[in-house]
Amino acid sequence: MKTDTWKNRDFITTLDYTRQELETLLGVAAELKQDFLLGKPHDHLLRKTLFMVFYNASLRTRNSFEAGMTQLGGHAHFLDQEKIYSPALPGQQAARHSEEIADTARTLSRMGHGIAIRCFGSAVSWVWGMGNQVMQEFAKWSDIPVINMEDDWYHPCQGMADIMTIKEKLGDLQGRKLVMSWAYAPDTKKPLSVAHSMLAVASKFGMELVLAHPAGYELHPTVLEGVRANVARHGGSFQIMDDMDEACRNADVVYAKSWTALQYWPPTTDKLDDSGLQALADGHKDWICDGRRMGLAKKSAFYLHCLPCNRDHEVTREVIDGPQSAVFDQAENRLHAQKAVMSLLMR
Ligand code: CP
Repeated sequence: MKTDTWKNRDFITTLDYTRQELETLLGVAAELKQDFLLGKPHDHLLRKTLFMVFYNASLRTRNSFEAGMTQLGGHAHFLDQEKIYSPALPGQQAARHSEEIADTARTLSRMGHGIAIRCFGSAVSWVWGMGNQVMQEFAKWSDIPVINMEDDWYHPCQGMADIMTIKEKLGDLQGRKLVMSWAYAPDTKKPLSVAHSMLAVASKFGMELVLAHPAGYELHPTVLEGVRANVARHGGSFQIMDDMDEACRNADVVYAKSWTALQYWPPTTDKLDDSGLQALADGHKDWICDGRRMGLAKKSAFYLHCLPCNRDHEVTREVIDGPQSAVFDQAENRLHAQKAVMSLLMR
């Protein structure tokens, strides 16, 4: 469900939120971070419950939501979809222990104050886009806010933590250069959600955005269109290139990670084409963020990765474990950004 105010709104993609709203969210996140560091109580969600439905594994997302709800005075309830009746789309109740999302969402709406969901990839039989359909189906039936903990399209909480980290380090973002680059990983099925969400949010802050990837790793045209519309409205620029060196030149931020190639996934193909994915990826093992490439960026540049990462493939150890790495600041900010999202939506 959607309203014009914060209360009870869903958080599925930041594309649904204005720049002003995102600035409010970042302001609240910064205040909550200060309260946390000072040990100051901030129980804005006293006795409230967040239901977290996980169809996929997680370290950072689960623990930041769970710790966040505790710190806000409420409780986060972990629901492994295999240990409940796996919530399914209409007509997809193939699993023995399954029930329609319409029933799960309406039941949980009577008992708590928010439903957070993670769903993509293997959880939806490797059909790209179906994780987002699950998210939308929950949102359709839920009377309480639905928060996207990552689907195949978006990872908006990661996007908010990323922009919070960038803002903390750079201050005013107008004109600062952010490179979102594909990088090689042996796992060829990582979602596009992080790249989509990073560009969706950064394009609202007037940054000079560069998307770099080899041919075949294009982001979804709908997201690219949204990014271009944001840049037209909020300033900055947006370039796409297939040269990682050129992309890194003079960058303020280098965000290099792997994502999958959509043309090998259903519904474009009949079934997931693993060998096609592998062959495409194997041709681009040189797409790694190393010290030489960081040397092309500004001296003050820093490296981002949402984690978990493939060390020695996506990024060298000298970069991710070195002084230019901001990946643990980024991971920490998941906590503060999500506490802001929950405080505003679930109050
Ligand atoms: N970045 C991220 O979402 O991490 P997890 O998969 O560990 O939750």
